[in-house]
Amino acid sequence: MNPRLARLAAYPFERLAALKAGVNPPAELAHIAMSIGEPRHAPPALVLDALRQNLAALGTYPATVGLPELREAAARWLARRFGLPASRLDANSMVLPVNGTREGLFSFVQAVVAAADQASVAMPNPFYQIYEGAALLAGAEPVFLDTTAANRYVPDLRAVPPPIWKRVQVLFLCSPGNPTGTVLSEAYLRDALELAEQHDFIVAADECYADLYLDEAHPPPSLLNAALASGRDRFERCIVFHSLSKRSSVPGLRSGFVAGDPAIIRAFLRYRTYHGCAMPVPTQMASVAAWNDDAHAAINRSLYRDKFSAVLPILQPALDVQQPDGAFYLWPHLGDDDTAFVRDLYRAKNLTLLPGSYLARATSAGNPGAGRVRISLVAGVAECTDAARRIREFVAR
Ligand SMILES: Cc1ncc(COP(=O)(O)O)c(C=O)c1O
Repeated sequence: MNPRLARLAAYPFERLAALKAGVNPPAELAHIAMSIGEPRHAPPALVLDALRQNLAALGTYPATVGLPELREAAARWLARRFGLPASRLDANSMVLPVNGTREGLFSFVQAVVAAADQASVAMPNPFYQIYEGAALLAGAEPVFLDTTAANRYVPDLRAVPPPIWKRVQVLFLCSPGNPTGTVLSEAYLRDALELAEQHDFIVAADECYADLYLDEAHPPPSLLNAALASGRDRFERCIVFHSLSKRSSVPGLRSGFVAGDPAIIRAFLRYRTYHGCAMPVPTQMASVAAWNDDAHAAINRSLYRDKFSAVLPILQPALDVQQPDGAFYLWPHLGDDDTAFVRDLYRAKNLTLLPGSYLARATSAGNPGAGRVRISLVAGVAECTDAARRIREFVAR
């Protein structure tokens, strides 16, 4: 058996199930799940229609590289969404489909990490769990960059000593972040690229929440913006991950793409050809419809904005919680043990949150997720409001 498998931590939801085991919540209250980041808005009709209309294409094997229509739709969306010059985005050499960013993030690390003594992959802490698992299975050590209130939930890249950077082969960034919702500025992303050049690593930006932001006037920038703004015309050292799961509320479609440095994309395509993870053609055609349409994403965004507006006034008198820049999570500080809070809240109010400590790893400064919970605003506005009231009552107990 691969000994690296033994290093994978139990997934947060496995730990959550163990935490809740044997606890009996009140039967008179319907359960509300705010632990999983699974979008629950209705999938757009145009995506479902395109999927149905293309089902006959299941009779053919799809190509790993994807249909030109899909890569072109993704490139056009990048240009529209981030104001990138279309002439700079070559769909043929700079875009590749992935079956959701989870799969893409994982396989990317397997493809690019070179076996080396002390090979390392750096990531924010707390973080999306795949970054760590991918690093460990690729034989690399994770380097955790704590995001706390003290650094405004932004990893302090300049605090990492140069000998550590020398070992790093991939730096993961996530903007808007999960679980903090923090958006990284273009200036910050430029600095990350400067370090990448200095120390020879790839910056892998998980931008799967890029279309979920609170301020319509300030959509979050992409790492690709920072690349062009700093004269990296071919997105040197950059790879970005995008997904329809959150933008279009189709987490079951399993559709995303990566884009960036053509030399990296070429190597990744080579890996994927053998990996065997081509996207089914009906999924590709449904994805073309989704990337071509921005109106449904704007509606989706407004539904999340309504939830933040409904929930925050209820929670803020009871909890230390701020409106994030983007994504659909709240990340309150409890001043209390997060696992006990989640267990006791479930027992009292039949409501499930995720302990913050499950999403982070302890570093020399402790576990940066401890004493916090992640609240996913994925249910409808009425259910989210009901949940906020239950949390407030529980805190006031
Ligand atoms: C930060 C982050 N990255 C990636 C993913 C994976 O999304 P998908 O595989 O559906 O694109 C998630 C899902 O919750 C996430 O929160």
